[in-house]
Amino acid sequence: MSQKVSSVKGMSDLLPGEIETWQAMEQRFREVLRRYGYAEVRTPVLEETALFARGVGEGTDIVGKEMYTFTDKGGRSLSLRPEATAGLVRAYIEHSISNQEPLTRWFCFGPMFRYERMKTGRYRQFYQLDVEAFGVKGPAQDAEVIEVALEVLRALELKGVKLELNSIGDAQCRPAYQQQLVAYFTGSRDQLCAECQLRLERNPLRILDCKNEKCREIARGAPKMLDHLCQPCRDHFAEVQRLLGLVGAPFTVNPWIVRGLDYYVRTAFELVADDPVLGTASAVGGGGRYDGLVQSLGGPDVPGVGFALGADRLKLLMQGRSFTQAPDLFVASVDDKAFDAAFALASKLRKDGLGVETDTRGGSLKSQMKRADKSGAQFALVVGEREVAEQAGELKPMRGGESRRVSFADLPAILRAPR
Ligand code: HAM
Repeated sequence: MSQKVSSVKGMSDLLPGEIETWQAMEQRFREVLRRYGYAEVRTPVLEETALFARGVGEGTDIVGKEMYTFTDKGGRSLSLRPEATAGLVRAYIEHSISNQEPLTRWFCFGPMFRYERMKTGRYRQFYQLDVEAFGVKGPAQDAEVIEVALEVLRALELKGVKLELNSIGDAQCRPAYQQQLVAYFTGSRDQLCAECQLRLERNPLRILDCKNEKCREIARGAPKMLDHLCQPCRDHFAEVQRLLGLVGAPFTVNPWIVRGLDYYVRTAFELVADDPVLGTASAVGGGGRYDGLVQSLGGPDVPGVGFALGADRLKLLMQGRSFTQAPDLFVASVDDKAFDAAFALASKLRKDGLGVETDTRGGSLKSQMKRADKSGAQFALVVGEREVAEQAGELKPMRGGESRRVSFADLPAILRAPR
């Protein structure tokens, strides 16, 4: 026997039984995004490595440690996208969208790839719903985008997810704050984990995000960005909060949110679920404003704000709910002679819009009825000589109840009637 080939670690198949939850989720995403006027965009899963290095940031874990990067046959360095924003920004620039409209609302749904240490809710291929708005500097766009995220969660009937909000300043106020932070952490440098000692040089803000207990303890006493915002950042943040209040969006301010990507300015937020099913992967989404990103990737000076929701984690939160759709009817045949009639009846009813299953293997009535039971069909109908002659048969409810005689012509109306 040949050796079996398995799927790549951290990348899973989505099979019938769970795919229905994914489909329901995607359907609800799309419905919400339609209401808010966001249009779907699909970009390639492969991009030039430089896009992510420049976009997400060379010093981030995502680019530094987690990308699937390879050289193609033409000698180009390519990477599987670890997130969607950089690719969407590239497409926005490449198609000169800013010349066509001053405000662009896009979303994208698809797989992302990060070579991460795997745990519950953390995979190497995972799906994101990514939402971006380009062109608006003012806080109304932040508030709208955040509301979209909350509305998606509401559409999925996920109640236990909390919005945590912060401002991480901009090029005016962050450098001075960063200096203070470096000064503060330098005082306890030796007690920081090895990773944070490196961060102290490269990306001191990320120390605030470290999961190491000692680092967290030290970070608790660190100066907060919120206390060092310049006036325009302060006003922007206040206005985002006011507008969220206006539309009844609940949030808490969490001064320790820094985000793991370099492009953010001002607003940064996370959606956090308090549910043991996620283990330590409690962030179901995150986002913020990225005003310099379009320009830094060679485009015009267009601001942007957006977020991504981790669909695999949302799916874990939806566990236990059933979205499978069973057939309306199972058509069986008494014997081989009646097979053609059953086959033709099923075909006709499907063309009328019903979900109908038959056993294409034929076989005994008993084995067909076993299959009918397994299919979860609402009703079964057995076709024999008499049924063919009368164009009518016994409609048998599969979950209990009386059978009744119905004409084939009436079947669509009867099966479509609400039960
Ligand atoms: P992010 O925080 O890196 O942001 O990812 C967003 C969400 O994707 C996370 O909150 C999490 O739910 C999910 N996620 C991330 N990594 C994994 C993984 N390995 N396995 C399963 N789920 C994962 C971004 O990606 C930004 N591009 C969001 C954004 C859009 N900001 C502005 N626009």
